[in-house]
Amino acid sequence: MKTAVVYASIHHKNTEKIAKEIAKTLKADLKNAINTTPQLNDYDLIGFGSGIFFWKHHKKILELVDSLENTEGKSAFIFSTSGLNRIRPDFHNALRTKLREKGFHIIGEFSCKGFDTFSFLKIIGGINKFRPDDIDLDNVKHFSKRILDHWKTEIEISSSERKYQSKIKKEQEEKQERKQIINKTKKTQKTKTTKKKKINPQIKRKPPLKQKNKVKRKKSKSKKTTNSKAKKKSKTKSKK
Ligand SMILES: Cc1cc2nc3c(=O)[nH]c(=O)nc-3n(C[C@H](O)[C@H](O)[C@H](O)COP(=O)(O)O)c2cc1C
Repeated sequence: MKTAVVYASIHHKNTEKIAKEIAKTLKADLKNAINTTPQLNDYDLIGFGSGIFFWKHHKKILELVDSLENTEGKSAFIFSTSGLNRIRPDFHNALRTKLREKGFHIIGEFSCKGFDTFSFLKIIGGINKFRPDDIDLDNVKHFSKRILDHWKTEIEISSSERKYQSKIKKEQEEKQERKQIINKTKKTQKTKTTKKKKINPQIKRKPPLKQKNKVKRKKSKSKKTTNSKAKKKSKTKSKK
């Protein structure tokens, strides 16, 4: 199993502290996404993190995720540092959505406050001075251990899950094959019976429309001739 921790930390290197701690616990490769585009093809588990800039992760991280290929079924976790609590709005939303769209299975998320001197905050000396602090680092250590445990069980589950899935797939394929055979035999039987129906002489066929009309016309002609005969008779009677 190969793990990478990818981060972007530009404001006060707050997120870098978190990324380093995670990488140490997970024995993962640490990759800075600011100056290079890390190659992540070989990794099964990848952590993505940065400071929060205007309610989102750093654009280098978001762009990196956009550029990734063949990520279906891989696992990921998210981390961040920010001036404010991430609850409302949830600063992880954008990255989480992108990762899910790419087919990543997200197994954990971590966030804590970071020193922030953005804009007018500079005037008052910033907020969250000294964060992330020892408590934050302790928390992130626990988070990393949980990720490790989860990952271990995840691997066990996924191998047995894979076996189970392949078994189900086989069964479904066999079922479909059987269905196809049944459908084929049904179709051939149907065509045989319809052919028989066409040849069957016992079925009385209705006369075609033209013939019907001819019969009607004949009838009306015969009516006309009988009428004219009757008229002639009456005429001769009256003359007498
Ligand atoms: C331009 C800029 C925009 C920021 N936007 C937000 C924000 O939307 N929400 C927030 O809570 N913090 C915001 N911050 C504070 C940073 O997220 C915070 O300081 C973070 O810890 C910086 O991480 P870094 O030192 O690893 O880059 C902003 C900071 C800067 C400089």
